[in-house]
Amino acid sequence: MNSRLIGDMAVSEVGLGVMGLALAGRPDEKDAIQVICAALDNGINFIDTADCYCLDSEIDHGYGERLVGKALKEYGGNTAGVKVATKGGKRKPKEGMWPTNGKPEYLKSACEQSLKNLGVDTIDLYQLHAPDENVPLEESLGALVELQQEGKINNIGVSNFDADQLNLAMTIAPVASVQNRLSPFDRSSLDLIEFCTMFGIALIAYSPLGGASKAKRVGEFVHEFQYVAGTHQVTAQQIVLAWELNLSHIVIPIPTCRSAETVKSCVESADVRLSTEDMILLTNSVPTGDASID
Ligand SMILES: NC(=O)c1ccc[n+]([C@@H]2O[C@H](COP(=O)([O-])OP(=O)(O)OC[C@H]3O[C@@H](n4cnc5c(N)ncnc54)[C@H](OP(=O)(O)O)[C@@H]3O)[C@@H](O)[C@H]2O)c1
Repeated sequence: MNSRLIGDMAVSEVGLGVMGLALAGRPDEKDAIQVICAALDNGINFIDTADCYCLDSEIDHGYGERLVGKALKEYGGNTAGVKVATKGGKRKPKEGMWPTNGKPEYLKSACEQSLKNLGVDTIDLYQLHAPDENVPLEESLGALVELQQEGKINNIGVSNFDADQLNLAMTIAPVASVQNRLSPFDRSSLDLIEFCTMFGIALIAYSPLGGASKAKRVGEFVHEFQYVAGTHQVTAQQIVLAWELNLSHIVIPIPTCRSAETVKSCVESADVRLSTEDMILLTNSVPTGDASID
């Protein structure tokens, strides 16, 4: 697979998100580790996790990071070029709750714990999971700058940021990436692409297939993706990822895969060559009314 840049790191153009390997309904640890190893076997060298990818309980906090740390340790091949991104600033204490905490002291202690969970001395990409409306961005990102100066994180990222927040963030910290939702169902971050391309900021596309509830039915909900899939003899999901990759060289989709087959399908999406006509059709497509179901 070709590489794309996040700050000073070259990463595979499609990454692996591990949220679906860590939340309720997750596969058992052994199967999840096999999926991560399958991703590495197939050329993916960028893995996205978060400390709050866990069951709805304080005790399980950090599971998604420990899972990635364990998978990399157990992987039989070379992991030297593998880059891991994680996030701090949210917890998941009870069902349905993802409270945000952007206080500097909290972020610093969360990062210390993430280092332990991942089993590393330095985190490749540490992302502020979301802005905390009760804490000035200067303070939250200021903590990440200090962590970077202390050598605990290599690159700083932000997530769930709009254009104004990203603009402000760039005056506070050397922002390498913004991780936002981007899919045929949520195109609100399309507006950021030109800006990010101009400034060389990676746009890490989360829930790139529309999330677990819609991913399998994307072709049914957005007919243009199914149509183009037919003309290329691939799946609608592969066309979605190819479309995102074609929007700009700064876009890096991170689908959750829960099987080796899904991993392979995502990796192969990077080989799909879309024409200008395909891109216009896909970019102008509109999901059907049923797609609002979550
Ligand atoms: N920053 C944030 O606030 C935030 C929020 C949400 C997510 N994320 C990140 O984004 C990642 C992905 O998001 P997500 O899990 O919400 O949504 P998603 O990747 O859009 O959807 C996941 C679903 O897509 C299916 N899938 C993946 N590739 C496929 C393919 N090639 N063909 C058919 N089905 C395919 C998976 O199926 P299988 O289960 O069959 O493999 C899974 O059920 C997460 O793991 C996480 O790292 C970040």
